[in-house]
Parts: sequence; structure tokens; C-alpha cells
Amino acid sequence: MSQSRLDLFVDRMVSQRACLDYAAAAIADVPGPVFELGLGNGRTYHHMCHIMPTRDIFVFERAIASHPDSTPPEGQVLLGDVYDTLPQALERFGPTAALIHADLGGHDRVKNDIFARNVSPLVEPLLAVGGLMVASDRMYFEGLVEQPLPEGAVLGRCFIYKRVA
Ligand SMILES: C[S@@+](CC[C@H](N)C(=O)[O-])C[C@H]1O[C@@H](n2cnc3c(N)ncnc32)[C@H](O)[C@@H]1O
Repeated sequence: MSQSRLDLFVDRMVSQRACLDYAAAAIADVPGPVFELGLGNGRTYHHMCHIMPTRDIFVFERAIASHPDSTPPEGQVLLGDVYDTLPQALERFGPTAALIHADLGGHDRVKNDIFARNVSPLVEPLLAVGGLMVASDRMYFEGLVEQPLPEGAVLGRCFIYKRVA
């Protein structure tokens, strides 16, 4: 039997947590800001603040509608469509991000894949050497190397990429 929507949701949640926990430890010695693409309710943002309390975490979101406990300070938000704000971030930060987490997708897998293909070239130049990109959808990078998933993450529910040079 195929998975229920609840199964898929649980797999996505446990995978996000496992990948973010792994990534936070792996980039401990990589300087630079952390980017959260897609705030939504703010659950993953809240977790990132919890596990990386000393990092500058910048949030990319077109409309803030998060839980009050998970709402970033105004100065840490790049408000607008990522097609606009990612190029603006490249001008502002250069290739300095130690970790980029993306959870921008909705319920339509085909649309998510098209979006991931389109947004990948805008994400890739932001990552620092040694930095990691964690995504809920497969991304399409030219120079980043896909990494094995940590224990607890579900194959196909999350993806990790690294800039090795
Ligand atoms: C699945 S939710 C993120 C959930 C979040 N990880 C959490 O734990 O609550 C996806 C978010 O991405 C945002 N988003 C989707 N496409 C976007 C775009 N092109 N530009 C900016 N934000 C976008 C949506 O507004 C939505 O809030």
C-alpha cells in the first residue's frame, strides 16, 4: 500500500529535524549566516534558532504568517518572492552562507520540482565553501555535491548538498 498523507508528513518532519541537527553540527566551524527559505508556521525556523543560538539566521518569505513564538525579528527577514530576494541576498552577503535550508514547496510534487529547478541557480552562488544546503525537494545544482543522509532521515523526503570547493 502506498503511504498515506500522514505518513508522508511525518517522514518530512522527522527528515527535516534529522538533517537540520546533522547540518548544524557539520557547519559548526564554517563561519557565515544561515538562511531559512520559506518560514511558513515557523517550526523549522524555531528549531534552527534552538540548535544554532549564536548564528545570524535570515528568513526569506513572501508573507509572514508564523506562530508568534517563531516570528523572526524584522531586520532578519528578506520579505518578498525568492526570485527577487535571492539575487538581492547575493549582492548583500556574497557567497557566505554556512547553511541554507529550503522548505518552499506545497502539495503539488510536479510544481515543486519545476520550482526547485528554477530556484536552484539562485541558491547555489550563496553557499560558502564547506557550507551545506538542506532541502525538502531535490535540487538541481551544477557545483554542489549531494551528501548521504544522516540516521533518522527518510530517503527521498530530504536532500543535503555541500559546496566542497
Ligand atoms: C511549507 S511552508 C514552510 C514551512 C516551514 N518549514 C515550517 O516549519 O513551518 C512553505 C513557505 O514557503 C513560502 N514560499 C513559497 N514560495 C515562495 C516564494 N516564491 N517566495 C517566497 N516565499 C515562498 C510560502 O509562503 C510558505 O510560507
